[in-house]
Amino acid sequence: MLIQATLLLTTLGFLVSAAPNCRCLYGQPCWPPTSAFALLSQSLSQPLIHPTPIALPCYQNASSDACSTVKARFTDALWRPDQPGGYEKQNFESYTQPNGTIDACYLSTSLGAPCKQGSIPPIGVDARTVKDIQVALEFVRKWNLRVVVKNTGHDYQGRGAGRGAFMIWTHRMKKITYDEKFVPVGGPKNVTFQAITTSAGDQWGDAYAFAAQHNRMLIGAFSLGGSVGTSGGFAMGGGISVFSPKYGLGIDNILQITIITANGTLLVLNAHTHTDLFWAHLGGGPGTFGVLTSVTYNTHPSFPVIIATFHVNLTSGGPDAAKKILVESIKNIPKFTDMGWGGLMYILRPTGMLNGLWAIPGPDPPQNVIRSLLDPYAHFINATSNGNGGIAYTTSSSFYTWYDQTFLGTSGPQVTGNILVGSRLLDRELAEKSTESVVDRILEVDSAFKGFEMVLGGKVSKPTSTGSINPVFRSSLASIFINEAWADGTNSTVINQQIERLKKNIGVLDGISKGSGSYMNSGSLFEKNFQKTFYAASYPRLLAIKKRYDPTSLFVVANGVGSEEWDRELVCRV
Ligand SMILES: Cc1cc2nc3c(=O)[nH]c(=O)nc-3n(C[C@H](O)[C@H](O)[C@H](O)COP(=O)(O)OP(=O)(O)OC[C@H]3O[C@@H](n4cnc5c(N)ncnc54)[C@H](O)[C@@H]3O)c2cc1C
Ligand SMILES: *[C@@H]1O[C@H](CO)[C@@H](O)[C@H](O)[C@H]1NC(C)=O
Ligand SMILES: *[C@@H]1O[C@H](CO)[C@@H](O)[C@H](O)[C@H]1NC(C)=O
Ligand SMILES: *[C@@H]1O[C@H](CO)[C@@H](O)[C@H](O)[C@H]1NC(C)=O
Ligand SMILES: *[C@@H]1O[C@H](CO)[C@@H](O)[C@H](O)[C@H]1NC(C)=O
Ligand SMILES: *[C@@H]1O[C@H](CO)[C@@H](O)[C@H](O)[C@H]1NC(C)=O
Ligand SMILES: *[C@@H]1O[C@H](CO)[C@@H](O)[C@H](O)[C@H]1NC(C)=O
Ligand SMILES: *[C@@H]1O[C@H](CO)[C@@H](O)[C@H](O)[C@H]1NC(C)=O
Repeated sequence: MLIQATLLLTTLGFLVSAAPNCRCLYGQPCWPPTSAFALLSQSLSQPLIHPTPIALPCYQNASSDACSTVKARFTDALWRPDQPGGYEKQNFESYTQPNGTIDACYLSTSLGAPCKQGSIPPIGVDARTVKDIQVALEFVRKWNLRVVVKNTGHDYQGRGAGRGAFMIWTHRMKKITYDEKFVPVGGPKNVTFQAITTSAGDQWGDAYAFAAQHNRMLIGAFSLGGSVGTSGGFAMGGGISVFSPKYGLGIDNILQITIITANGTLLVLNAHTHTDLFWAHLGGGPGTFGVLTSVTYNTHPSFPVIIATFHVNLTSGGPDAAKKILVESIKNIPKFTDMGWGGLMYILRPTGMLNGLWAIPGPDPPQNVIRSLLDPYAHFINATSNGNGGIAYTTSSSFYTWYDQTFLGTSGPQVTGNILVGSRLLDRELAEKSTESVVDRILEVDSAFKGFEMVLGGKVSKPTSTGSINPVFRSSLASIFINEAWADGTNSTVINQQIERLKKNIGVLDGISKGSGSYMNSGSLFEKNFQKTFYAASYPRLLAIKKRYDPTSLFVVANGVGSEEWDRELVCRV
């Protein structure tokens, strides 16, 4: 405890008192005294938490069991989110000082850097109940603290981290229920849904397993271990799945949300009650309008899945091969997504490979129809790559069997790293009419990784109701995402060069997206006009709703609605 306190003080002790327009941060004279925290904890169901850097035990005693655990599980997709101080991308745990010095706590003590708290909030609430959250919000309002909400810490914009902030940790607020005849509050009694309700701390792996017990499936995220949260960025940012072309985006499947607003009021949101705030949640972004306590999703019957996995060497067929192969690959997207298929492909520059898959939800079309659609592509990529391309098929009897085999029970390298991403939505009309020039742009991007989430089109372009999500989603074909990654210990000069390359490459992709549209969950922190890129035509109404429900701007996240009123650190009003 003493070591921890010293660590925090030396990390944040330089901070002066909060200016009138600023939130109060840890280490400043305005920070609540120990007695105030003691009083707070009396009203909570759990002790306060003191999130610390994951690798801290290795700096305290390298031969301790705690350090061995950290080393063994550092990249474990499910262990890391269970640590209040753990973020999937380590760079969000760190903090870059104005002079370029990086405060971090690297796993390798041999890098010679001290262990620093970085951007990990030093204290918070282990929220298990509505009251815990209400009490936390009251405390945060009273002391003018910066609040961050965190479940898994998976966010690619680090929106669940905040230097010197107060954390509402929702990760242990878990409860999943099934209602065969769900009626949204205020909705007509004769219109029912087979619905699953998940809580703030639930993760997709658990939700899928639960749904499978009822022979149902959900539109959710896919990651090793099923680690992504059901009720954070996915739920409020859009939510994409390879089954979206069949059943829509995540938000298209949300029936009801419960939320605690800035003043502590618990509200039920759906198509019948608080429709404005419901609309805002369907794409308006996480951590912005309040603390969500549950999300109710519509479910679908389970189905068999056929996976067509393809790979092709882009360079082995000569200088023109890459372009020809990409043109053919992109021409498939509208054809296949409109039939309800979803896919993913990515180019790894160092290996020169294009790898990907199409997920085909059964039971129709039959195998021979699938082969008749994909065989020409298989032949083309093989011939064009001089025999270095092909397609393999696997069949799973149910959605959950496929999910289980693909994402669970895996070992080896899993998550983490220092990564910044950026993305653009590929415009459908352009991709169909000017495929070659679209491919020229894609080839111009010099990122080591380029991914294509071929999950729009189909049902995504024909929603029954739209929500606030950037309307560009509905007329796009794919989300293209790129990244920059670096090793621990890399200095900020080098990182800044990589950020510049990321920005340059996003600029190249601007030419193939409508209005620079982007999926915020793989979005960049360095957007020139985040309002247009992430929200577009929905922004003015979103901002009005934000001001109505959160007039003091208690909830602020990077590139979130209303965040333009705050400085880059999201601490002081500009
Ligand atoms: C390995 C991996 C795989 C992914 N796969 C997919 C995918 O298949 N499809 C897809 O669409 N996206 C995917 N994503 C992106 C994912 O949707 C986002 O990273 C998302 O932000 C994660 O939400 P979380 O709640 O798990 O993470 P967190 O970082 O805990 O939270 C993300 C944001 O939501 C806010 N938040 C969390 N809980 C609440 C709450 N209860 N109330 C209010 N705000 C809250 C946080 O403040 C933060 O701003 C993936 C990400 C990773 C790292
Ligand atoms: C470090 O941990 C080991 C293993 O638990 C223990 O034997 C040793 O005494 C510890 N060292 C210190 C300085 O605490
Ligand atoms: C950078 O700034 C931090 C915080 O003020 C300070 O502790 C550190 O010594 C500085 N480093 C250099 C190289 O100036
Ligand atoms: C539900 O009831 C209303 C009013 O009685 C009726 O108009 C509507 O058609 C019914 N809907 C369904 C799906 O049965
Ligand atoms: C792709 O082809 C090139 C050229 O033939 C070759 O050098 C490279 O090793 C191949 N890549 C892979 C991953 O096989
Ligand atoms: C790919 O092409 C090579 C000849 O270049 C051929 O031998 C091989 O059978 C083809 N593979 C497939 C799967 O068609
Ligand atoms: C940063 O790292 C690079 C690569 O190791 C090195 O060339 C450069 O001198 C370093 N810059 C600073 C300011 O330390
Ligand atoms: C709290 O905010 C809600 C909207 O979020 C509003 O309807 C309600 O009147 C507010 N209550 C108080 C006591 O201010």
